[in-house]
Amino acid sequence: MEAAGGAGGEAGCVGGRGGESPPPPPKTLVDWALEILDTADPDEKARLGDLAAAEWLRGAIPLPYDPARPPRPPPDRPARSDAVRLLPPSQMPKLGKGGSAQSRLALLHSLAHTESWAVDLSWDIVARFGARLRMPREFFDDFARVAQDEGRHFTVLSARLRELGSHYGALPAHDGLWDSATRTSHSLLARLAVEHCVHEARGLDVLPTTISRFRAGGDEQTAKLLEIIIYPEEITHCAAGVRWFRYLCLRSHNGDPTASSVPQDITQCSVLPRGGTSDINKVEEVEDGPEAKLAEPSNGHDKTVQQVEDELAQCKLVDIDDDAEAAVIRTFHSVVREYFRGPLKPPFNTEARKAAGFDPAWYEPLAVKEVERQAVE
Ligand SMILES: [Fe+2]
Ligand SMILES: [Fe+2]
Repeated sequence: MEAAGGAGGEAGCVGGRGGESPPPPPKTLVDWALEILDTADPDEKARLGDLAAAEWLRGAIPLPYDPARPPRPPPDRPARSDAVRLLPPSQMPKLGKGGSAQSRLALLHSLAHTESWAVDLSWDIVARFGARLRMPREFFDDFARVAQDEGRHFTVLSARLRELGSHYGALPAHDGLWDSATRTSHSLLARLAVEHCVHEARGLDVLPTTISRFRAGGDEQTAKLLEIIIYPEEITHCAAGVRWFRYLCLRSHNGDPTASSVPQDITQCSVLPRGGTSDINKVEEVEDGPEAKLAEPSNGHDKTVQQVEDELAQCKLVDIDDDAEAAVIRTFHSVVREYFRGPLKPPFNTEARKAAGFDPAWYEPLAVKEVERQAVE
């Protein structure tokens, strides 16, 4: 496998000569994620993200993280350029419904802004949780793809703004987009549920209306960008959220997803007992916690790669039965009720949600206000 590096990358596995300091360790995907989160310029953030995802997905970055070199925590809030003026949500001018060119420009600017933050969200989940919870390689694949998509979405919308004589940063932008990321920064389960299931699915609900507003206003080009490029890819993002929520839920609840509320911190690859009695026990056990593994010194790059591959291979899930799925969904409900304010807002785009594997059983009970729910129970 080719060493990490490439444009913007650090040196790979070139042997040092006598007296010289050893070469720096290969850059991991988490190293890339941290660099992207620290990049303030939104165009550069998207460009670097595209490069990192492409390198990872073609196998040019050997490790998702280096067990011998625990990564630093990601920033509480990603770096953002001062060129985009952020306003508290309550002070944001109304976007309108796309009936005028000015309103459509405001809508387009708002969409570009959301996509730029989505780039950060995708890399944050990689940097914040990927190594600490020793997530499988497929987790890194999925969120590298999502990050690459979000960067592409930002880039095409930003380019469209310029075609229309504006640019990203020409208007003030909503400063509340990181709030729920902060609220869920301690729990991957909560992060997946709120950001990567609920918010991504909400995007699917509203996007068809947004597309028709651009179309009705005569901006077919923007309508097509949203319809052909962005909409289908957003379905895959919601699918990634559902997939990893299910995985983590089954892995972390000691055989009974209903037995605990939201885990504050999950530090085991699997805490399931060997030969467990429940069908939920479909993840093989890893005996040592990730901190112990991460702190182990490595004698060489090959050994490190093998160690990570061995660990990741132990985190595979197989198919689950209906009872386990029902338990996962109940856990989803409890997590969303704890971390998402208020009921979910219908109407839902059932078809797109279904295409993402997000069936009504996951979200319809959450559309009911808490007081109404308690009255029924
Ligand atoms: Fe997007
Ligand atoms: Fe997305």
